[in-house]
Amino acid sequence: MTLEGGEGAGKSTQARLLVAALAARGIDAVLTREPGGTPLAEAIRGLLLTEGEGPGLRTEALLFAAARADHVARLIAPSLAEGKWVVCDRFVDSSRAYQGGGSGLPDAEILALHRVGSETLLPELTLLIEVDPEVAIQRTAARDGDASDRIGGRDAAYHARVAAAFNQFATAEPDRFARIDGNGSPEQTHAAIMAAIDAARWGPA
Ligand code: TYD
Repeated sequence: MTLEGGEGAGKSTQARLLVAALAARGIDAVLTREPGGTPLAEAIRGLLLTEGEGPGLRTEALLFAAARADHVARLIAPSLAEGKWVVCDRFVDSSRAYQGGGSGLPDAEILALHRVGSETLLPELTLLIEVDPEVAIQRTAARDGDASDRIGGRDAAYHARVAAAFNQFATAEPDRFARIDGNGSPEQTHAAIMAAIDAARWGPA
C-alpha cells in the first residue's frame, strides 16, 4: 500500500505509525520510500533532489521511473512474493501528480514509463493524505526552514496543481484510493488511516 500527498502532509510519520500498528496486529510490513528504497534508487534520489539546475522534465520523469524500477525489482516485488505487506511513502502517483499535474507531462506518458520500468505494478490501497495549503506551508517551514529540496521548493501554483492532480486520481479510482484528512493531530490522522484499512474489502478482519 502507498501513502501519497503533497509536501507537509505527514506521510513519513504516518508510514512509521502504520507499520508499527500492523506489526502489533502480527502483520509483517516492510517500510520503504520513494524516490529511494534501494542503494541505486537512493543514489538517483540524490541526483533528483539536490539544489541546482537539475535534470529537464523528461529526464526527471525517466529518473523517477528508473529509481522505481530498481526499487520494485529489488525490494518491493521480492517482499510481496514472500507474503509481506509493503508500505511505501510515495510511488507512481507522485510521478503522475508532480511530473504530470505539476509540470505538464501527459499522464499516459508517465504510465508508459511505469509499464516499461515496473510492469505497471500498482498498490492495492493508496492512502491520500490531504491537508489545507496553509497547514502544509506551516509544517514544511517548521521542518525544512529555507532548506526545501529542488522539487519541494517549487512555487505555490505548482503545488496547487499537484494537489489538484492527486484529487483527480482519487476521484477516478475510488476503489484504490482512500482520502485521509491530514489536518488534525498525527494520532487523529493515524486513526483515520487504520479505519480506512479496516474498511477496505481485503483488509484484516
Ligand atoms: P520527499 O523527501 O519524499 O518529500 P516529502 O517529505 O515532502 O514527501 O521528497 C520527494 C520529493 O520528490 C517531493 O517533492 C516529491 C517529489 N517526487 C516527484 O516529483 N516525483 C516522484 O515520482 C516522487 C516519488 C517524488
